[in-house]
Amino acid sequence: MTQPLQAYVNDAFVPIAQAYVHIEDRGFQFADGVYEVVACFNGTYLDLKPHLQRLARSCAAIDIPLPKPMAELEALVQQAYENNPFEDAMVYIQVTRGVAPRSHVVKQALIPTLIITVRELPQPSDEKIQTGMSGITLDDIRWKHCEIKSIALLASVMGKQEAVRQGVDEAFWLDGQGHVLEGCATNIFAVIDDVLVTHPLDHQVLGGITRDMVIVAAKALGIKVEERKWRLDEQGLSECMMSSTTNAVIPVCYMNKQAVGEGKPGEIGLKLRAHLLGQLQALRES
Ligand code: PDD
Repeated sequence: MTQPLQAYVNDAFVPIAQAYVHIEDRGFQFADGVYEVVACFNGTYLDLKPHLQRLARSCAAIDIPLPKPMAELEALVQQAYENNPFEDAMVYIQVTRGVAPRSHVVKQALIPTLIITVRELPQPSDEKIQTGMSGITLDDIRWKHCEIKSIALLASVMGKQEAVRQGVDEAFWLDGQGHVLEGCATNIFAVIDDVLVTHPLDHQVLGGITRDMVIVAAKALGIKVEERKWRLDEQGLSECMMSSTTNAVIPVCYMNKQAVGEGKPGEIGLKLRAHLLGQLQALRES
């Protein structure tokens, strides 16, 4: 018999079917919490420290105490991988403010709820890798603190649902002037006149850990990078690509049913993807 998946909840690893939180958990009632998704390759985590540092920043931003010291969190996340059967895994970490009778105002010091679950790391299909991804754009209906990795993801759920309804892979948010911000669960880059361009870090985008990796990779490959506002209708735009923990970086070749550049994965997107996949392979072998 295969072993059930193990989830961490209430200070213990338990079979996922028995992993519960209280109905008055503020995460459940108010989306009062934050999260992280980290990839692990054959037991070696990709940038675990930056993910946990971002978790600490998200907690601090909404005044939730970090539930464990950093070193303990790292050990728990490692343990979560080891307690589950996947070679390449996607580890989900969620912290909520804790359990209390429902009231908007937090009236007492609470013990934060920490949960960790592990699933197989999803991989883009071979077809998507060949053809590239497709997307739509939507007006940004999210709140004004997108730099916090909040579990309040209703707008992203709606955006993704709309993308699926239109038969594409991702929905990308536009600000009021038509600048492309980021996807529902990805950052986005364009190549404009051979420069890799992405929205600067501010309250309208999440500082993606993969976004950072792409920027470092681009610089290492001699590709110029600009963090500035950009639009899809800019002269000289030849490629788009999106990045996230679960996709690494992958070309986006159709947007709103229009070809981006030549409508197939472009040179810079492919170079960056190969570079990042090389790093992931090195982790697998380490
Ligand atoms: N999403 N922007 C948003 C809004 C995101 O939700 C994510 C990640 C990213 C990319 O961040 P990173 O490179 O650190 O994964 C950008 C995760 C994967 C999710 O919600 O499942």
